[in-house]
Amino acid sequence: MSSSPPADARDEAGIRALSIARYRRRAAAYDSTCGPTWPIRERCVAALQLQPGDSVLDVGCGTGLSFELLRAGVGAGGRVVGFDQSPDMLAQARQRVERAGWSNVEVVEEAAQGLALDERFDALFFHYTHDILQSPAAVAALLARAKPGARVAIAGVKAFPWYLAWLNPWVYAKNRAYNGAPGGLRAPWRRIAAHLDGFQSVDTQWGMGYLASGRVRPAPGQPGTPA
Ligand SMILES: C[S@@+](CC[C@H](N)C(=O)[O-])C[C@H]1O[C@@H](n2cnc3c(N)ncnc32)[C@H](O)[C@@H]1O
Repeated sequence: MSSSPPADARDEAGIRALSIARYRRRAAAYDSTCGPTWPIRERCVAALQLQPGDSVLDVGCGTGLSFELLRAGVGAGGRVVGFDQSPDMLAQARQRVERAGWSNVEVVEEAAQGLALDERFDALFFHYTHDILQSPAAVAALLARAKPGARVAIAGVKAFPWYLAWLNPWVYAKNRAYNGAPGGLRAPWRRIAAHLDGFQSVDTQWGMGYLASGRVRPAPGQPGTPA
C-alpha cells in the first residue's frame, strides 16, 4: 500500500513551497512596494470596525505592516496575532514588534492550513492573501479560529470587469509573481464568502482590486451572531 499523501495535499504543499520561495526573494524589498496600496490597507482595517479589547487575527501578516493600524483599533487592552508561513517575512514582523515594544502583538510562524492556535478571534483580517483564500483547507482552519459573528475584512487583487478584460493577462502575471495559486481571480473571495453573513464586496483600483467584508455565520447549533 502506498504511503504517499493524497493529490490535494501534494498540491497544497507545492503551492506553499512556491510561495515561501517567492517571499524569500521579495521579503527585503517588500515594504518599499506597499506605498500605493496603503489607503486600501487603511480601508480594510476600518471595515473590521475594531473595538477596544477585541482580538484580531492578521492572516498572512507578512512583515507586519498592518500591526500598528490593527493595534490602534483594539487598543492597549486588545490583542493582535499575526501569522505567516514565510520565515523571511516574519523576521521583519518580529523586528517591527520588538522595535515598537508592543506587548499585545504576537507573531506566529505557521501555515494557514495547519493553524494550531487554540484561541478564537473577534475579527479576521485578510490583506493581499490570495493563496490562503484559494485553499479550502486554509479557509476551514481560519473559520474554526473565528468566534461566531466575527467580523471579516478582505482586500486583494481580482480580474478586471469585462470592459477592461483585455488587461487580465497582465493581472494574472502580476498575481503569479507573488502567489503559488494565482488563478480564481474572478471571485477570489468565493470560498470564504460562502460562510459569511452580510457579505459585500466593492471594486478598488479601477476594478483590479476589491475590498470585501462580512461576519462569520455561526455553525448550525452554535449560538447566534452577537450584536
Ligand atoms: C502579499 S503578502 C501580504 C502580507 C501582508 N498581509 C500585507 O498585506 O502586507 C502574502 C503573505 O501571505 C503569506 N502566505 C501565503 N500562503 C500562506 C499560507 N498558506 N499560510 C500562511 N501564510 C501564507 C506569504 O508568506 C506572504 O507573507
